[in-house]
Formats: sequence, structure tokens, C-alpha cells
Amino acid sequence: MTQTFRDRIDLEMTVNGEAVELTVPVGRHLIDVLRLDLGLTGSHVGCEHGVCGACTIVVDGAAVRGCLTIAAQLQGSKIWTVEGLTESGAIADLQKAFVERNALQCGYCTPGMLASAKALIEADRVPSRETIREHMSGNYCRCTGYEAIVDAIEMVAKARAGETVTRSRAGETAAEARDGARTR
Ligand code: FES
Ligand code: FES
Repeated sequence: MTQTFRDRIDLEMTVNGEAVELTVPVGRHLIDVLRLDLGLTGSHVGCEHGVCGACTIVVDGAAVRGCLTIAAQLQGSKIWTVEGLTESGAIADLQKAFVERNALQCGYCTPGMLASAKALIEADRVPSRETIREHMSGNYCRCTGYEAIVDAIEMVAKARAGETVTRSRAGETAAEARDGARTR
């Protein structure tokens, strides 16, 4: 690491609704500031080069890779991790839907999945299944079928918008099931 990256910088951010002031190495990534400096270990680390999405965090309303983001860039930013999102109740419906739809097994990917899903639903009120797949394609899960994850996100998006979706099995709405039954 060069001297420039060893130099330290004062940083002020809002993390999970609380003002935080700390001094960090200029080159430290957001995920390390959260996990190592602030003890917020809910956001996970996987590949550490922007591929798996395990470290996804909500920064100023957008889903951001914590392992690619230099914390020093985030002066004044509002950061939400899975801890704050859980305590505030902001993702309670998503968490419930993930459980109901069996959209997690070991849970390692889940904090990142929830952060990505939250940002998507807030940006695109009722995203199509195709849009959900596209948006979530940067979040890898090694043990759950993605269909259940898409189901859970779609269910919450529609519920928040006052719509309902009934699925007789993963990936199939009641209407699709009826149509399928007619042709089967
Ligand atoms: S740990 Fe950040 S994308 Fe994999
Ligand atoms: S639930 Fe195990 S990696 Fe996704």
C-alpha cells in the first residue's frame, strides 16, 4: 500500500440514522469501515472485487458495493446496513417474504440481497420479474434457487403498491397456473 493510501482522513457520515465521525485510512473500503471500525458485521464479504454482491449496502438510497467503494468518497452520505434496516422496520416485509418463500438457506448472501431489493423497489415501484432478475443479477446465492428470491421481491413490491400476487409454485402466478392447466 502506498503512503497516500496509508494517510488518514476525517470522515463524517450518517450510519443507520446516527451521525458518525471517525478517522480512517484514505484507501479503506466502506465494508471494512463498517465491519472493522464500527462493528457492523451484518454486511458480508465474499469476493472482495465487486462480483458477488454479499457486501451490498444502501448509500443515499442506492445499492452500492461496499468492497469497491472507498469510504473517503462518502463524506456526508447516509448509509444503511442490514442492522439499521432491520431495526427501523424498513425491510420487515422483505424479510418476512424471504422466509415465507424459502428465499434463503445459509443466509450469507441475504443482507446483500435485501439491500439490493430495497433499493430496487424504492426506485421502480413495481418492477417486472425480468427487471427484478436483471437488478438482482449482481447478487450471487450459492444455495437457494433464484426463483424464490424473485418471488419474494415481486410479492413485496406488489403488496407495497396495493396489489397482490398469488403463486401456486415458484415463478408461477395463479393466472399463469390456470393458463398452463388449460394447455396441459
Ligand atoms: S464482497 Fe463485494 S461484491 Fe463480493
Ligand atoms: S442463502 Fe446461502 S448463499 Fe444465499
